[in-house]
Amino acid sequence: MYTTEEAKELQKDTERLLKSTGNEDELRKVLRFHEYRYYILNDPLISDSEYDQLYKKLEKLEKENPSTITPDSPTQRVGSSLNTDFVTVPHLISMLSLENSYNAEDLIDWHNRLNNLTDNQKITFSAEPKYDGASISLIYEDDLLDRGATRGDGTAGDDITTNIRQIGSIPLSAKFSDHGIKKIEIRGEVLLNKENFKKYNESLAEEGLPPLANPRNAAAGSLRMKDPAAVRKRKLEAILYHVSFIELNEKGLKKYPDLLNTHSGILQMLSECGFRTPVNEKKVFNNIADVLKFCHEFENKRDELPYEIDGIVVKVNEIEIQQQVGSTTHHPRWAIAYKFKARQATSKLLNVEFQVGRTGSITPVAKIEPVPIGGVTVGSVSLFNEGIIEEKDLRLGDTVIVERAGDVIPYIVKPLTELRTGDEKKIIFPTHCPVCGDALVKPEGEAVWRCVNINCPAQVVERIIHFVSKDAMDIKTFGEASVTKFYELGLISDIPSVYSIDFEKVSSLEGFKQKSVENLRSAIENSKKQSLNRLIYGLGIRYVGETTAKTLSKNVDTIFDLPKYSLEDLQQLQDIGTKVAESVFDFFHNEDNIKMLEELSGKGLNIRGDKSEPVSGKLSGYTFLFTGTLPTLKRNAAEKMAEENGGKLLSSVSANLNYLVAGESAGSKLAKAQKIKSIKIINEEDFLNMIQS
Ligand code: IVH
Repeated sequence: MYTTEEAKELQKDTERLLKSTGNEDELRKVLRFHEYRYYILNDPLISDSEYDQLYKKLEKLEKENPSTITPDSPTQRVGSSLNTDFVTVPHLISMLSLENSYNAEDLIDWHNRLNNLTDNQKITFSAEPKYDGASISLIYEDDLLDRGATRGDGTAGDDITTNIRQIGSIPLSAKFSDHGIKKIEIRGEVLLNKENFKKYNESLAEEGLPPLANPRNAAAGSLRMKDPAAVRKRKLEAILYHVSFIELNEKGLKKYPDLLNTHSGILQMLSECGFRTPVNEKKVFNNIADVLKFCHEFENKRDELPYEIDGIVVKVNEIEIQQQVGSTTHHPRWAIAYKFKARQATSKLLNVEFQVGRTGSITPVAKIEPVPIGGVTVGSVSLFNEGIIEEKDLRLGDTVIVERAGDVIPYIVKPLTELRTGDEKKIIFPTHCPVCGDALVKPEGEAVWRCVNINCPAQVVERIIHFVSKDAMDIKTFGEASVTKFYELGLISDIPSVYSIDFEKVSSLEGFKQKSVENLRSAIENSKKQSLNRLIYGLGIRYVGETTAKTLSKNVDTIFDLPKYSLEDLQQLQDIGTKVAESVFDFFHNEDNIKMLEELSGKGLNIRGDKSEPVSGKLSGYTFLFTGTLPTLKRNAAEKMAEENGGKLLSSVSANLNYLVAGESAGSKLAKAQKIKSIKIINEEDFLNMIQS
């Protein structure tokens, strides 16, 4: 899309524009370039804050001269909330489904049918992932994004243009005119990658809401939200894989006369126009045996991909043959989906247990007859809340479909009501806490019943489990079972008590050999050094996830600054809204909590935030990244040295990096750093001199 020369020029312009004002046009050009680097190549050349600086400059200029605003300006993605329903719009061409296949036979059968239809013409096949998201249609006219729509019933969908404009990987304008195209309809899939899906579900859990079942549902739901700003926050991605309609302009196809004759050529054209496509994942084959091999290879690496795929789509590569064989009313004859093994199974719902979470939330958990799904045996499935049991009309004794996709926690898709015998029993939700017996309450507007007794043993144990967990204080070997056991035996009673465990008593317990006691003791001791953001996260403050914990710790000298923050101060911090601010404020204005923090600080836990001064300052204010093999120092020793001298370590090359310390056979990081002028590339000797000077 950009030649090396163009990219170099644009990077130069970027540096100049960061220092000077510039005009609207050049700012737009530069911002579009960086959107492309970030969203399409996943390889940004500037930091988020530099992007924001440029964006704000453009916004200011456009505010002063509104007549200069173009519809494809990077500032024009934001839109206002809808208060009506989406408008239904007809598709230019029906959005069909795909025929499914599950094995070699099905694929060979499809190939034979194609041979019959084409009188055995030579066919090549292009195979690419079948993305598991929500399908969309985009129309561009005169190089501008004109409309985005959902699939709907296939003939008409919802006009979701405003939401589509929130997706960074969808360009607002694209140079289709270079390819002689006046109007084009493109099809593709909107998805949420696994990592963002997980984060989104974590944020739901922090609010006490049930998680979404899978990234597909999350993507489909996101596209139909009424608030475009909320859509933007979901970090959706779009991959485009099909052109359904083209109107040529009077110039005709000039640049690449043959590009639009094959599916693989079309993918290349879309990539050149700035879209994400399967161009690098797809492969073209001469025969079905190789296609099948490709399908198996992909199935084996499906869990390593950043997003969910549920199969491979095999397409006839020649567009002429595609047109020759045409479509049924349901699917094109020139394409077929090879579906991966389902990660669903049926099982029997035996019982429902009610678990008490660390905030007192009561979660119904279905105990099912254990079944293997995608290589894991599933025996317990969370039902999240009472509403879901009612919505799905689940009953004890039901045969149920259970799904487990990749990293996603297993869930019950539905009961098979046609298999009911009449002996199934209603699931009765408890009125009192199953652990402490207090009456449960359901605050207005919430979906979850809660035990509000903060001394409820179940909650105390869950709070400690959260505190010691991997993403919090990361006390290895102190798992759920040990925490529960220690609590029951009176060895721990609350969070601070973790730091005064009587290890002599522990050694007398069954299953605790000297070695494991020693390991536990040192893991607990080491955890005292954990960074403040982990401690804050570990406290289990409602609505405070890892990101908020990092924001809080970044802004304080020590944790004892937080009680000094007013509600307004808290809301000034990045991404902290009213609800989170109130929860943080309440936590740090509760006497018992402050007493607990004092106790933890007294036991030697690190309570210093990122604002506090580093131990020694030779490297303070600078960021470092080590790559390649250094002549004398081991990588982690060098990193430790940098940190001990006040330097900060970065994990990847970006414009935020000050020094790249490169050793022997430094690879892509070095190459990348060489492209960013502001980064100084030094060797081990230079680094040691910096410390000793
Ligand atoms: S081609 C006219 N390619 O799968 C047919 N579809 O189950 C155009 N899908 O409705 C579809 N990845 O939403 C095509 N690489 C891919 C795909 C893909 C996912 C979706 C698409 C389709 C559904 C059928």
